[in-house]
Amino acid sequence: PSGGRLVVVSNRVALPRQSAPGGLASALQAALRERGGLWFGWSGKLAAETGAELHRLHDAKIDYATIDLSRADHDSFYAGFANGTLWPMLHYRPDLVNYQRDHLHGYLRVNELFADRLRQLIARDDIIWVHDYHLIPLAAMLRRRGVKNRIGFFLHTPLPAAGLLIALPNHRELLETLASYDLIGVHTARDLRALEDYFLHETGATMRRDGRLRSANGRLFRAAAFPISIDTAGLAGMARTAMSNKEIGQLRDSLEGRLLIIGVDRLDYSKGLPQRFQAYARLLERAPELHRRITFLQIAPPSRGAVLEYREIRRELERSAGHINGKYAAPDWAPVRYINKSFPHRLLTGYYRTARVGLVTPLRDGMNLVAKEYVASQDPDDPGVLVLSRFAGAAQELTDALLVNPADAEEVADALERAINMPLAERRERWNAMMAVLQKNDITAWRVAYLQALCR
Ligand code: UDP
Ligand code: G6P
Repeated sequence: PSGGRLVVVSNRVALPRQSAPGGLASALQAALRERGGLWFGWSGKLAAETGAELHRLHDAKIDYATIDLSRADHDSFYAGFANGTLWPMLHYRPDLVNYQRDHLHGYLRVNELFADRLRQLIARDDIIWVHDYHLIPLAAMLRRRGVKNRIGFFLHTPLPAAGLLIALPNHRELLETLASYDLIGVHTARDLRALEDYFLHETGATMRRDGRLRSANGRLFRAAAFPISIDTAGLAGMARTAMSNKEIGQLRDSLEGRLLIIGVDRLDYSKGLPQRFQAYARLLERAPELHRRITFLQIAPPSRGAVLEYREIRRELERSAGHINGKYAAPDWAPVRYINKSFPHRLLTGYYRTARVGLVTPLRDGMNLVAKEYVASQDPDDPGVLVLSRFAGAAQELTDALLVNPADAEEVADALERAINMPLAERRERWNAMMAVLQKNDITAWRVAYLQALCR
């Protein structure tokens, strides 16, 4: 039943030989490489008109079909409604929500255009799998155009409780369209509870005995949790090979025996970077014996620069990194190395493996693949320690990490100290437990479980 052609639809597409940092691009690329299929979405480019031209490419089992966005659509759909309204809402930040009705209109307009273009690409037996908050109403728009195919949706972000969701103007018009999908996937049991609660209490949907939901207008659909994952074996192999790369050798040489702490995040306020820097500063303040013994490397590629909050967080971190180095550095030692650039997995896996501590402290995160990649990249004989926020979806599975509340600088500093001093036996024990989880729940298991549920 899950044998038809797979058509994946998402705003961000990981085009061959282009960098696209982000969990969605990493995971879907890994999933499609195995399964093959068509990937439809935004080209990442601007043009005079949205969707005037369809760009086609084929690479390693994947067919790509992408369209450009006009400047106006980019600003209202992508920067405006998707990332200025929905993203902060979904990440429990109503204080950062910027709602403008014309942004909503742009969002709906681009979704209609996606539906028009997609309609021309799909065949009868295709399985359509739509991803993320940019494209919530897409199935409803496809259904209106007569599409009868199986259509699934997967949300890559957290889903906050109904009490928060209802603060979004026109929330019901938008969220109720989710009932046009056959299956709605989320990362965790908490996200699923929020979704069910919203449908049952805000839209008049009912729960049937077979577990399916019936929307107020009678459509049956299913919702379930599918924690996304990584190509565990592939990344572990890549990390091993990476160690003979020149770049990894250069990093190692530059450390001169110091322990490395690593953070890798898109420059996003949901990642808790200012709090992370503060916790690190707190550690340096209270543990002078660690000075010169440790180095913190933060890789933070800029993201969504068209949105004000993202430009602000960038400035804030520049100040913070400068402040820490100004206060604690010595002529031959900088406590923080801060880089606004993205790196390919070929190198990241080697950097992860070089680091004794992986520091992953988002305030809220749907899953957080970096946490999983850090674990998969470790040397089994001498693995590093993961310090992980309780508010990342990954904390539900990686319970052998040192789990922290990212808002508590003292607690994060404690965890860092414990990680730095952790004996090898305990590091191995924790790593083995986490790696076993990732070997079982890898990206293949995620894709297969979702598509089976969709085609059931
Ligand atoms: N990533 C990357 N290069 C970078 C920074 C990040 O390839 O310089 C990748 C990272 O390896 C991971 C993804 O981007 O696969 C980030 O996913 P995550 O779920 O951690 O967070 P998101 O960016 O989706 O919020
Ligand atoms: C998160 C979102 C994705 C998005 C990615 C990168 O992972 O869930 O939908 O693609 O961030 O953000 P960007 O705006 O560059 O696509």
